[in-house]
Amino acid sequence: MRSGWLFRPPTRSIYHPNSVNPSETASRTHQPALAGQPESPLNMAVVRAEFPILDQQVHGHRLVYLDSAASSQRPAVVIRTIAEYYAKDHANVHRGAYELSVRATRRYEAARGKVARFLGAGRADEVVFTRSTTESINLVSMAWGRANLGPGDVVVVSEMEHHSNLVPWQMVCEMTGAEIKAIGVTDDQCLDLDHFDALLSEGNVRLVATGHVSNAVGTIHPVEEIARRAHGVGALYLIDGAQSAPQLPIDVRAIGGDVDTFSGHKACGPTGIGALWARRDLLESMPPYQGGGEMIEEVRIERSTYAPVPHKFEAGTPNIAGAIGLGAAVDFLQSFGLETIHAHEKRIARLVLERLADEFKAITLYGPAPEVARGGVVAFTLADIHPHDLATILDHEGVAIRAGHHCCQPLMRRLGVAATARASFYLYNAEDDLEALVGGLHRAQELFGI
Ligand SMILES: Cc1ncc(COP(=O)(O)O)c(C=O)c1O
Repeated sequence: MRSGWLFRPPTRSIYHPNSVNPSETASRTHQPALAGQPESPLNMAVVRAEFPILDQQVHGHRLVYLDSAASSQRPAVVIRTIAEYYAKDHANVHRGAYELSVRATRRYEAARGKVARFLGAGRADEVVFTRSTTESINLVSMAWGRANLGPGDVVVVSEMEHHSNLVPWQMVCEMTGAEIKAIGVTDDQCLDLDHFDALLSEGNVRLVATGHVSNAVGTIHPVEEIARRAHGVGALYLIDGAQSAPQLPIDVRAIGGDVDTFSGHKACGPTGIGALWARRDLLESMPPYQGGGEMIEEVRIERSTYAPVPHKFEAGTPNIAGAIGLGAAVDFLQSFGLETIHAHEKRIARLVLERLADEFKAITLYGPAPEVARGGVVAFTLADIHPHDLATILDHEGVAIRAGHHCCQPLMRRLGVAATARASFYLYNAEDDLEALVGGLHRAQELFGI
């Protein structure tokens, strides 16, 4: 293991991580071409050096981490930022008149500004810190849904949603008497936009909620077009950005949705912190989700008035260190550039899809073809080997993948499978990780006599 990384002097200021000098940027984003392959825009040695956890052996093999769609790893700068915050600046925010509290508040609010810029939001007060994508969607479904939905109203989701963008809508529909309808999935595992139009034309659609990138099969959905069609019938559009914010440049204003969400832990940030962006007028019109300290203006025994947004939605002591860590994470991602990260992921996903199709006759690959917009997730089944067995065999080779329904049971039903194996590639994955995956799958075939 590398030692001394936690407190090593940062190569750039943790408070101003965008101040990377041009020669450093060039070295971070250039990698020599492999014979016959287009080159990755990222320099893998430089990227991997930022992730201390990758520098270890598992079951006697180099750790190959291919489960970033579930949770990414953290760069040292994020870990260091959190440790340093606790070591130097911690106090509760928005309360104290003393120096430490002022510093903590300044850092917490600076992180909000960083997340707002990361999302292309016009204003920092359109960003609410939450626990995660799951909590962000529950916040909107409960705060907006209970106040605005009633019998006869329709919420449109899709058959490809993560349960986090399905179950909260089912719950609020049950409470309010509204109905839930789902956009179907085409045979090439894209959203069926003709079916979407048909659902919109049935009337009474108040809100559309879809993912941006599928965590199960990697499809990138045409969110701008979905926003346009949803608004055409006067519906709001909520985007579950859990898988898009980590790997695509996001500009919420250009996309044109009403709400976007993401989780820190999938974007190189801490667990337990996420963000909700919504248009300011929408946030202002929504009642609070939870009551408590920090979210009030004036409290009397009978009733209270609430703080302005975003604080109205941040009841209680927030995850201060998490927010500050998330600020460091988005700075880190932006220091490479989200365009660059996406180009790297597109390239590696294409290599993986082509190699697995060439190498394994008995493999079934899920998700759209590499030419179609897709992210760094590759889902597959191999002959009749159970995906959990595949994951266990690969683990013994040091390769971490995920197996199961990926919190997308309706999609699994549509695909006619109970589970798939899923390898998800991120900025720190490259060809050597693909080779390890291929080697592990050969081992699985040997063990199962295929
Ligand atoms: C598309 C999608 N939405 C929502 C979630 C939920 O994220 P979290 O568990 O961080 O709330 C996930 C997590 O895998 C996801 O992939």
